[in-house]
Amino acid sequence: VSPFKRGAILSDTYSSETNELADIDWDSLGFAYVPTDYMYIMKCTRDGNFSTGELQRFGNIELSPSAGVLNYGQGLFEGLKAYRKGDGNILLFRPEENALRMKVGAERMCMPSPTVEQFVDAVKATVLANKRWVPPPGKGSLYIRPLLMGSGAVLGLAPAPEYTFLIYVSPVGNYFREGVAPINLVIEHELHRASPGGTGGVKTIGNYAAVLKAQSAAKAKGYSDVLYLDCVHKKYLEEVSSCNIFIVKDNVISTPAIKGTILPGITRKSIIDVARSEGFQVEERLVAVDELLEADEVFCTGTAVVVSPVGSITYKGRRVSYVEGGFGAVSQQLYTVLTRLQMGLIEDKMDWTVEL
Ligand code: COI
Repeated sequence: VSPFKRGAILSDTYSSETNELADIDWDSLGFAYVPTDYMYIMKCTRDGNFSTGELQRFGNIELSPSAGVLNYGQGLFEGLKAYRKGDGNILLFRPEENALRMKVGAERMCMPSPTVEQFVDAVKATVLANKRWVPPPGKGSLYIRPLLMGSGAVLGLAPAPEYTFLIYVSPVGNYFREGVAPINLVIEHELHRASPGGTGGVKTIGNYAAVLKAQSAAKAKGYSDVLYLDCVHKKYLEEVSSCNIFIVKDNVISTPAIKGTILPGITRKSIIDVARSEGFQVEERLVAVDELLEADEVFCTGTAVVVSPVGSITYKGRRVSYVEGGFGAVSQQLYTVLTRLQMGLIEDKMDWTVEL
């Protein structure tokens, strides 16, 4: 089925543009925005239905200064990736999971959301229209950023009267400037990312603005990112600003359970399934900060970070170090299986990838 069936508008230059790889230095991709060719836009009106979406040339969008998203933060985002295989075809990783997570988030933020089919079709159309920006095999991926926002004008605090679903893409390499080398985290014990009953469990834009202060302070001191503790006991691990956290002790893998304050990461969920299929015991539970002292390995997972080994964690001035120089044995094994699956290098027994 053509992903373009839903009214996608393509320019005359589209096919010649997409057949050749973009002329950029594919060896120096990090996680910085590279403008691409097309974005996808779909509007939802007061009746709660999304109209037919369309591809447009990538560019600025117009919003009322009174838009709900600008005034009251009524917005969500998603993140997923497309990889180019050796045969030139493109693989998406579990796009319907992002669609489902956006639905849950939209419900929490009082927004209508696209159906799973609308979401996945839109992702496919956007990736195909920007095909020349999908990095060659082994050079990175195309990061896909769907947004859902209250674009209608409001003044009093209320859900916006109109919504916009938008997707843009950018070729990316490694998220952290360390590359795949271990990252150094610092535990934040005063500022919190989320609270019970709040929005920490959905991918609303405000959750990410809320961590910038602690993250900037940590980066200024040379740390890669911040690890947050729960705000009630200030004792249990929650997540890093941009990813979920796992610890390994005696080959048992543990990660904080999802309980409303932690983002239900799709890479997190996939790593749990991969680990179990590789024969590991995985526990989703409360993980106390003290357990970091005894852990054999610590690693992070996320769409942007993929699987990232943690080299050290600093808590109240005390630094604990883990495997030096690279992955620990367990995180290496999980990283290898997951990324080979995402890149189409091993059989996808989980049926997670979608080929374009
Ligand atoms: C992702 O991993 O896709 C995220 O949304 C995290 C973001 C801070 C880059």
